[in-house]
Amino acid sequence: MAFKNFIDGQWLDSESGKTFENRNPARQGDLIGRFPASGPKDVDRAMAAAKKAFATWRLVPAPKRGEILYRAGELLKKYKEELARIETREMGKVLKETRGDVQEGIDCAFLNGGEGRRLFGETTPAELPNKFAMSVRGPVGVCALITPWNFPLAIPTWKLFPAILCGNTVILKPAEDTPQTAARFVEILSEAGVPPGVVNLVHGRGEEAGAALVRHPDVQLVSFTGSAAVGREIASWCGQNLKRVSLELGGKNAQIIMEDADLELAIEGALWGAFGTTGQRCTATSRLIVHRDVASKVTDALVARAEKIRIGEGLDESVEMGPLINQAARDKVARYVDIGKQEGARLLTGGAIYNEGACADGYFFQATIFDQVKPNMRIAQEEIFGPVLSVIEIASFEEAIAALNNTKYGLSSSIYTSDVTRAFRAMRDIEAGITYINGPTIGAEVHLPFGGVKDTGNGHREAGTTVYDIFTEWKAIYVDYSGKLQKAQIDNN
Ligand code: UN1
Repeated sequence: MAFKNFIDGQWLDSESGKTFENRNPARQGDLIGRFPASGPKDVDRAMAAAKKAFATWRLVPAPKRGEILYRAGELLKKYKEELARIETREMGKVLKETRGDVQEGIDCAFLNGGEGRRLFGETTPAELPNKFAMSVRGPVGVCALITPWNFPLAIPTWKLFPAILCGNTVILKPAEDTPQTAARFVEILSEAGVPPGVVNLVHGRGEEAGAALVRHPDVQLVSFTGSAAVGREIASWCGQNLKRVSLELGGKNAQIIMEDADLELAIEGALWGAFGTTGQRCTATSRLIVHRDVASKVTDALVARAEKIRIGEGLDESVEMGPLINQAARDKVARYVDIGKQEGARLLTGGAIYNEGACADGYFFQATIFDQVKPNMRIAQEEIFGPVLSVIEIASFEEAIAALNNTKYGLSSSIYTSDVTRAFRAMRDIEAGITYINGPTIGAEVHLPFGGVKDTGNGHREAGTTVYDIFTEWKAIYVDYSGKLQKAQIDNN
């Protein structure tokens, strides 16, 4: 099947006619379709459409824009199962999780739909008589949204819904591993009543379509979720050209288990955090920091349960863990297993590709656990983005917090403890954008700020209401109704 770009309400091939293939990561023989390999000319066309649409879309009242998002939420609900199946086939995670991914998009639509009536500014007394002062939010312009493959629907909704709610128009460039979900998504948006040109979709590789988009002189804002390496490049380009840029990058999230924790709960949390989505979440638990008094009990239970995880194609409802996204991802995970062994960590379970039966045709990897990991080892410092958990033993609460903070990233974090004093100290002292008490590192809700500190980003927060600070410009407005020239206080001395 041949898919197309969506520009100005029309489905179009790339100008060059070039395409790329999208295959099921669980079964390479399963060709999903061919998608346009777009370049600068396609981006130019999308930009012209987005600029034209901006002139009218920005004037549509925000509550009306919100109503369209509300309809989009209802349609996403209607098509939830279809979307989940599209996602599982092209991305690999199990159906329960892709249904969750779509649910996150639905939640995001209703949240933003409601916020259309609440894009509040401030009114304030002015310092002079017969003068009124206020601040209002306005749109930024055409936004480039570059999204990853691990949440093929949820992450585009996090960016796109607030962007268009605020009156911006967008060009979406989805990851080349999950283009079909994006294609169906923009089709649903049209059905919901999003006018032509407000949302444009340009498929293609990051180095071609993505780079052309980021570098387009008329892009006002870039919102990117992906690797720290690409984020740095985008940030430096945007810095040089004074473009707004919001980045959501890597993580090396840790869960702490103190000796006073409910161990059963903590073990369940660690398994879900580490191996849910095959470890391919920005929020995944990749380090487990365990008090030495309970370490062997915890690792024994983890190993026993990790070995029981059913691996296979996510469309099979009995499967618990799907494949990695592609060959390069699996090679990277295998490379880190070798690195871990060379560094002197002990491989407790897993560590190899999984190719039993039908899995031989996909990019499967075993659930893998290392212990005897030291905080400075590469497997405790670098993002692996796969089903690999590194267990670090500590002897005190202070040591646990220091180990958790000993990373250049700071997205998600967790501590299991029954001591309320430790819980509050952890909330204060952990360096991360998200902290869970007695819950795993994954599972953020859409109405709270999402993002991280240090190299995880550049200070912005998606989701919640903080996302509107990304997608709007503040304007301060003064209305003088005195009928005479009133000089501001500073000019009146
Ligand atoms: C991501 O992996 O980039 O918090 C997003 C979670 C999900 C979102 C993860 N709600 O696990």
